[in-house]
Amino acid sequence: MKEKSKLDVVVVGTGYVGLTTGLALAHLGHRVKCVDKNEEIVERLKQGIPTIFEAGLKELLNETGRDILFTSDLAGCLDAADVVMIAVGTPAKDNGDTDLRYVEAVAREIGEALAPGQQLVVVNKSTVPVGTARRVETVINEKLGERGVKCAISVASNPEFLREGTALHDTFFPDRIVIGADDLHAVNLLRQMYTPILEQSFLPPRYIRRPEGYALPVLITTSPTSAELTKYAANAFLATKVSFINEFSGLAEKVGADISEVARGIGLDKRIGTSFLKAGVGWGGSCFPKDTLSILCTGRQYGYEMPLVEAAVEVNRRQRKIVIKKLQEAIKVIRGSTIGLMGLSFKPNTDDIRESPAIMVIGDLLELGAAVKVYDPVAMENYRRTFPGQKVYYAPSIDEVACHADALVLLTEWEEFLHLPWQSLGEKMQSRVIIDGRNMLPKEELQAAGFTYMGVGR
Ligand code: UDX
Ligand code: UDX
Repeated sequence: MKEKSKLDVVVVGTGYVGLTTGLALAHLGHRVKCVDKNEEIVERLKQGIPTIFEAGLKELLNETGRDILFTSDLAGCLDAADVVMIAVGTPAKDNGDTDLRYVEAVAREIGEALAPGQQLVVVNKSTVPVGTARRVETVINEKLGERGVKCAISVASNPEFLREGTALHDTFFPDRIVIGADDLHAVNLLRQMYTPILEQSFLPPRYIRRPEGYALPVLITTSPTSAELTKYAANAFLATKVSFINEFSGLAEKVGADISEVARGIGLDKRIGTSFLKAGVGWGGSCFPKDTLSILCTGRQYGYEMPLVEAAVEVNRRQRKIVIKKLQEAIKVIRGSTIGLMGLSFKPNTDDIRESPAIMVIGDLLELGAAVKVYDPVAMENYRRTFPGQKVYYAPSIDEVACHADALVLLTEWEEFLHLPWQSLGEKMQSRVIIDGRNMLPKEELQAAGFTYMGVGR
């Protein structure tokens, strides 16, 4: 007998979003099947080997992973399913538009495999442009129509707001859950699926603590279109907030102000808030760059200009260039120099290098004739795999990165970079120059150790 409050959930795509979602739902007690067309990924997950780096993921995969069926066979998972969550990749096309071919392929497969009379709620979890919920419904129904099969399908949009690095934490303890659906059955079923989170009635895994003073999340039900647009608006807003502080950081340098002080000064105004006001080398990752371009593309399709989002993108592009400018100012000639880079991932606590500022900085440095050494606690393997043959020296330690370097550049604020023996590192260097691309390092301590310190906007 099926326990009624628990659902049969199929998650398609086991990337950052899908795997996190699948593990979290299984931890809440739902019966979960995780599908990925990449058989190597499926094999690893079956063996309990994490395919991505996320806090708590390895442990949860060990504990809860045993209850999940990992498979490449979507059709074979559908007969008992209450909910199918689509979490496959949605990469950007050259024109910035979102490539929906993987989402549509999943929809087709669902339409080809559903049994007559089956009732199913399909959820778009991936970030997809407005109209995609309807598109998925149309594709499924077309396939059903070709087969002469009738099913009760509802398609809902349920965007995720999880941050990489804290993806499990954000899934268990969200600020809000947005469900965009036109019919009540879908809303009710998804509410039931999320009840343990909405009521916080579950016991969190030991290693993912419920934040102190955490207030119950709000469930927001909207139309599918509003839910779809909400995700883009959230990411565009956050990206704009970072670009805003980055724009001011440039001016702060010119007038002699410290952007960290300015950020604190404005952030303590509750209407503004302190988060996402850290100036640095700009935003990257799998979401902000892709989603800002995608929403601009949507605007263009409607002949509607979005100058604020455009400016956020432009400021970010300019921001990535500041590393080279600062190096030219500090060491004058880049050709023939050796530059040590600290951090490759687009932010700490992840091995993800998608759209990481490091990619552009390394490209520019190599083009300008520098020798480049890099060190990252977890992302080096990923970088090497993505850019095979790139002439970069992968240093096994910070010591090695510093050795004979003309300058060090911090690009990712990994915690282990906070407390380093600066005096002895400096002794290994050709010249003691450090560019702190995330304003995280102890400026005074570095200066006392003889370093020329350059932050961003301070
Ligand atoms: C997700 C969402 O796709 C994206 O919209 C959102 O903005 C960020 O998060 P992510 O989880 O990072 O992306 O995706 P990715 O790491 O690319 O993983 C997708 C997985 O789906 C891969 O493991 C891939 O093998 C799998 N996949 C892809 C399928 O199983 N079937 C397909 O047809 C395509
Ligand atoms: C983001 C959103 O936060 C999340 O809600 C959404 O679901 C996916 O996209 P993520 O890309 O994982 O999450 O990272 P996030 O922590 O938002 O950082 C994005 C980028 O902005 C990073 O490159 C980060 O270094 C940069 N950033 C962030 C800053 O430069 N300054 C800040 O103050 C905050």
